[in-house]
Order: sequence, then C-alpha cells, then structure tokens
Amino acid sequence: MEEAVHKLLEAAVKEIATSGSNLQELDNLRIRYLGRKGELTQLFKELGRVPEGDRPAAGKLLNELKVELENRLSAAVEGAKQRLLEGREQFDVTIPGRRPLRGRLHPVTQISFEVSKIFNSLGFEIVEGPEVELDYYNFEALNIPKDHPARDMQDTFYISDDVVLRTHTSPLQVRVMEKHRPPLRIIAPGRTYRCDSDATHTPMFHQVEGLMVGEDISFGNLKGILTIFVHQMFGPDVALRFRPSFFPFTEPSAEVDIECVMCRGQGCRVCSQTGWLEILGSGMVDPEVFKMVGYDPDKVTGFAFGMGIERIAMLKFGIDDLRLFFENDLRFLRQF
Ligand code: PHE
Repeated sequence: MEEAVHKLLEAAVKEIATSGSNLQELDNLRIRYLGRKGELTQLFKELGRVPEGDRPAAGKLLNELKVELENRLSAAVEGAKQRLLEGREQFDVTIPGRRPLRGRLHPVTQISFEVSKIFNSLGFEIVEGPEVELDYYNFEALNIPKDHPARDMQDTFYISDDVVLRTHTSPLQVRVMEKHRPPLRIIAPGRTYRCDSDATHTPMFHQVEGLMVGEDISFGNLKGILTIFVHQMFGPDVALRFRPSFFPFTEPSAEVDIECVMCRGQGCRVCSQTGWLEILGSGMVDPEVFKMVGYDPDKVTGFAFGMGIERIAMLKFGIDDLRLFFENDLRFLRQF
C-alpha cells in the first residue's frame, strides 16, 4: 500500500506540472485522482484487503495523500488563474469599445417632423388621411372633374373607376373642411403616389399639405406664413419669391422658389443656371372648393399649400438622387 501511495503521488505531481496553466486539464486531473471513480478513491476501497493490524497506518497514509493532492491541485489552479489575469493586463484598456448600433430616423421622416414642428409652432394642427382615396376627394371636390385636362397633370394609379392611390395630400383639405367649421389651421403629412419613375420621380413619395381658413385670410397671410417657414427651414438669409402658377383648387395660385442653396443664387447645375429652386405650390382656396364642402365663399377665405418632403430633404442635405431615399442602403442612411 505504501508503495502504491508513493507511485500515485509521484505520477500526479508530474502530471500537474505538465498541465501548464490549463484550467480544463487541471479539472480533468482532479476528477481522475479525487473523483468518485478516481484512482485515490480506488485505493481507499482496497483498504479492506489490508491486514487488520496495518489498516490504521494505511488509512492515515491515504488521508495524508488525499490532503496533499488536494493542496497541490488547488495551488495549481490558483496559479493558472493568476497567470490568466496577468495575461489580461497586456490588453490596452484605453482602446474604445465597440459601439452598440443605434437606430435613427430616416431623413424623410426627420424633414417631415421638422416641417410639422415649424407649422405646429404657428398654430397648425397635424392631421392624417387615407392613402387609398376616393376619386371624389383626390379630384372632384378639388375642382378637377373627370373630363378636366388637369387630370393629365398627375399620373394616377387607379384602383377602380372611383378609387385611387392619392396623388397628393390635397384631399385632406376637403376631408378636414367637411368635418370642421372655420377658422382652422391644419398641416397634413403623408405618402402620395404617382405612376412615374426616374432620377427625379418615384412611384411613392411624401408631401405635406397646409390649409388655413377663416374670415379675412389674405394672400398676405399666405406670404407671411410661407416666408417664416422658408426662413426657419433653410435659414433667415435665404431669399424666396412667389411666382404665378395654376392649380384647379386655388385661385390665384403661386409656386414658391427659394434662392438656390447650392450656389446661393449664382446659377449652377442644380438650379439649371437660374439661381432659383421651386419648393412648393400654393394659392388661395378656390371658391368652388368652398362650395363643395358647404362653406360660404362670401364669408370665408383661406390659403393652401403643398410641398414634396423628399425635395426639401434633398435641398437641405445636398442629396442629388431621389432614389437614394428608398434603397435603404445603410451607408447612406447612417449619414443623417
Ligand atoms: N397638390 C399640389 C401638387 O401636388 C400642390 C398644392 C397644394 C398646390 C395646395 C396648391 C395648394 O402639386
């Protein structure tokens, strides 16, 4: 027995030494010697076969071996852990960690929010309406009857004879006036659809509609409000001009141009050398539209305007291809 104990101790000491600092290997050794089916446990079982007189001495020897092995193993484990810790100090803790990916709002959403915020601060309330719209709201009630040539101004997706994907946010003018009495001030952002696709047109795009109706609302109010908007959106020094135009649902109508944000009005490729960029359509609500919603055109007046969100975003961020907004390329989106 004494010989077996010495042999076992010798073998164990050697193996602990060759295990290096490998914690997994040390654990395997512990199981091999001290585990339930381990070699030392095996020796304890053989105690029964030792002559009775020698048994106490043999038992004592085995216990000493057990303690010895346990001590050596735990010392080796401690050493291994210590070495791991020391190894870790070689890392440069000042290197910045990996940033967690943070989501952000799409540039179109950002601009839409910004437009809404500006008009909100001027007392305009935000409303929404359906994207699948009745022909009546998209056209008829906006003074565009079925045979009107103005229908050709917009390439419409027809769902059926009298249901369309709205081609602009203007149907909200009608929907709001049908439900509410003047005075009112609303802003209506949302998706719009036209059957058109190239570098400057996508089948789906975004608009914001504005409408202000009451007694004595004048073209002067339209100019004032839109001037405040342009200055808040593009900066207080940006010049703007109101250029006569035509829409079936406003009279008189005007398109608003701002001084080219790329060349500051000098003339460049973006503004086709004119120094001006068109950003929205507007005008005084046509009396015909008031009649459609049961307002008395002799008592109330108002103005409306509509603008493309992508267009504003392109000018504000200096983006030259509309399609970038819809490709969802993260390399593009992460820049905003
Ligand atoms: N709805 C028009 C368009 O899409 C813009 C507009 C809105 C013009 C309101 C005048 C008044 O082109």
